[in-house]
Amino acid sequence: MTEKQTWSQRFESALHPAIAHFNASISFDIELIEYDITGSQAHAKMLAHTGIISHEEGEALFTGLEKVRQEYRHGEFQPGIDAEDVHFAVEKRLTEIVGDVGKKLHTARSRNDQVGTDTRLYLRDQIQQIREQLRDFQTVLLDIAEKNIETLIPGYTHLQRAQPVSLAHHLLAYFQMAQRDWERLEDVYSRVNISPLGCGALAGTTFPIDRHYTAKLLDFDNIYANSLDGVSDRDFAIEFLCAASIIMVHLSRLSEEVILWASEEFRFVTLKDSCATGSSIMPQKKNPDVPELVRGKTGRVFGHLQAMLVIMKGLPLAYNKDLQEDKEGIFDTVNTVKACLEAMTILFQEGLEFRHQRLATAVTEDFSNATDVADYLAARGVPFREAYNIVGKIVKTSIAAGKLLKDLQLEEWQQIHPAFAADIYEAISPRQVVAARNSYGGTGFNQVKQAIVKARTQLMTDD
Ligand code: ARG
Repeated sequence: MTEKQTWSQRFESALHPAIAHFNASISFDIELIEYDITGSQAHAKMLAHTGIISHEEGEALFTGLEKVRQEYRHGEFQPGIDAEDVHFAVEKRLTEIVGDVGKKLHTARSRNDQVGTDTRLYLRDQIQQIREQLRDFQTVLLDIAEKNIETLIPGYTHLQRAQPVSLAHHLLAYFQMAQRDWERLEDVYSRVNISPLGCGALAGTTFPIDRHYTAKLLDFDNIYANSLDGVSDRDFAIEFLCAASIIMVHLSRLSEEVILWASEEFRFVTLKDSCATGSSIMPQKKNPDVPELVRGKTGRVFGHLQAMLVIMKGLPLAYNKDLQEDKEGIFDTVNTVKACLEAMTILFQEGLEFRHQRLATAVTEDFSNATDVADYLAARGVPFREAYNIVGKIVKTSIAAGKLLKDLQLEEWQQIHPAFAADIYEAISPRQVVAARNSYGGTGFNQVKQAIVKARTQLMTDD
């Protein structure tokens, strides 16, 4: 590196090229450039507003920064490694454009409060975009649920057939998870949206700045109360990464189900050609790459959360260069979550079809109505635990005889217990088994219908 750095004359020589490269963040923090410019424009306005610089100077800085923005958008300004980071890059280009007045921009500010401001402005936008994507995803799930209230699907515990449920009920479980994700991000947003601008390097500044003024210009809800905390806090990043990780947990669980459902063992869904891939060697194969990738990408998002926690745990106050390491994880998390939400939304919108015939058969071929036999007896005065034991025996002998519960003759039922009557067949039919679970939040059709109405209003009113 031939040129000396932006920092003071204290330095005799330039950085070793490898160290300059090691130190630089421009290759990734360029992502923040628009936010850096917006933040600097607010800072310039504040400097003029408080009389720290003249109005003409403030004006020159503002329009010069706008010029940098336009140059960047048109590909005319592409800062390289010599700029070290996006903050130096913008300031340097500004000074080339507006002359010496550009050197006044950094009055009463440090890159420490600057980068904190940029990151928050960036995350604020991204959180809103992710929340909108969650809404799209929820809408698609709800649309499918609405059409499948009376479609039955085996319900599992321990991945063993347990009780049949409405397919709508199953999908609405994921709707609820996405709803919590949406709410959680709103909560995270409230702590992202606090301005550290004006905290300076760590201790505040000797200039009569107005932090509320910049906060207002940048639409922040509040300002950091303590300058040391303001420049070194990354709780908001940890919280975002945590919320993102939970979104990925949900998408990954759904992915796992789709992968199982698409297998020959389940055959509950067919993947459409637009969302499945083939094998390079086995001509018969259709692979669920989309959900597999979502499941796989979950790992890196968890990794970024872990990395951020570890970055923070040993940091003394206030800013430390370690904090430069927050960005790549945040950016990659944002990109990954957005890509996964988009892919899963498309997958459910047009990439898979439930196999209704197969589902209808699936819910008749097992003992998942056994609880209902016990409930039948319990409703007729037999203590539940006793009823449970009686049904356990019935299941055992039926398995030995190669029969299902629906195949037993009425006499057989009555030999087991005199409370059984002809209505036992209706009581254990899959449709009735589902319909009867009409407790609040259960899979009974009436409950599911109400849940759908509620979900629809939630989507319409919460925005
Ligand atoms: N590139 C730096 C970062 O991302 C900007 C802040 C640098 N501050 C400093 N004191 N060196 O954290």
